[in-house]
Amino acid sequence: MSSQNVNNPAKGALKSLAIIMDGNGRWATRRGLPRKEGHIQGAKVVERVLAHVRELGIHHLTLYAFSTENWKRPEEEVEGLMSLFYKYVTHVAIPKIKSDPELGMMFIGDKSALPEKLRKKCIEAERLSEGKSFICNIALNYGGRAEIVNAANKAFSEGHTTLTEELLSRYMYTSHSPDPDLVIRTGGDFRISNFLLWQSAYSEYIILDTLWPDITDEEIDDCVARFNSRERRFGGVVDKPKKG
Ligand code: IPE
Ligand code: IPE
Ligand code: MG
Repeated sequence: MSSQNVNNPAKGALKSLAIIMDGNGRWATRRGLPRKEGHIQGAKVVERVLAHVRELGIHHLTLYAFSTENWKRPEEEVEGLMSLFYKYVTHVAIPKIKSDPELGMMFIGDKSALPEKLRKKCIEAERLSEGKSFICNIALNYGGRAEIVNAANKAFSEGHTTLTEELLSRYMYTSHSPDPDLVIRTGGDFRISNFLLWQSAYSEYIILDTLWPDITDEEIDDCVARFNSRERRFGGVVDKPKKG
């Protein structure tokens, strides 16, 4: 399906998209390459997907790049990923944010545990992103459970004694973006892996077998078309036209 076919139905319906970019390691292993090559290829693909998502009229994209659990990986892989993130933010993200008046990038997750020089670049990118109309959230050292605990602690530390859903939402890392309408996971696994636990309460889910570095624009279009064909009820009942 071409992007033309789904462009119009998608516009307006899907405002916020989130993607669990899984499968980089398997992509590399299947080619007899070290896992880090999969991560390098995965980072390149982000650029194309980002541009395509913008063409579809979506205003918020959230990408899962590194979870709070990913520190468990071998030291060499973690170091390789941190160095890749640093290069990406410094040489790709910041120049793009500077030259594109609409593009902003925010980093959701616990930045305090990131290497100092990466953390500084993330903060610089965020500062340059203020007031931008398209926001790409990169989930870096992100965990949904940690986010909820952090939000509650922040609310208490600012003097709140009772939590409400609305209040807690304001303390989430994602308070600047709407909840995702659709979450796509590549790599074929039917699990949430601690991603946007709070925000995805009523998100639609699509799992693709495709490994992240192999994702195509057409597959994204197909996901948007599948999303558009679903009936979202949010626990309610959709009125059907009365007979007769
Ligand atoms: C996702 O790909 C990227 C990160 C978690 C950083 P993986 O590295 O998890 O790839 P697979 O799932 O092992 O193939
Ligand atoms: C989820 O993938 C995290 C990211 C894509 C960054 P994982 O590969 O870490 O998830 P599990 O271990 O298969 O659940
Ligand atoms: Mg994985």
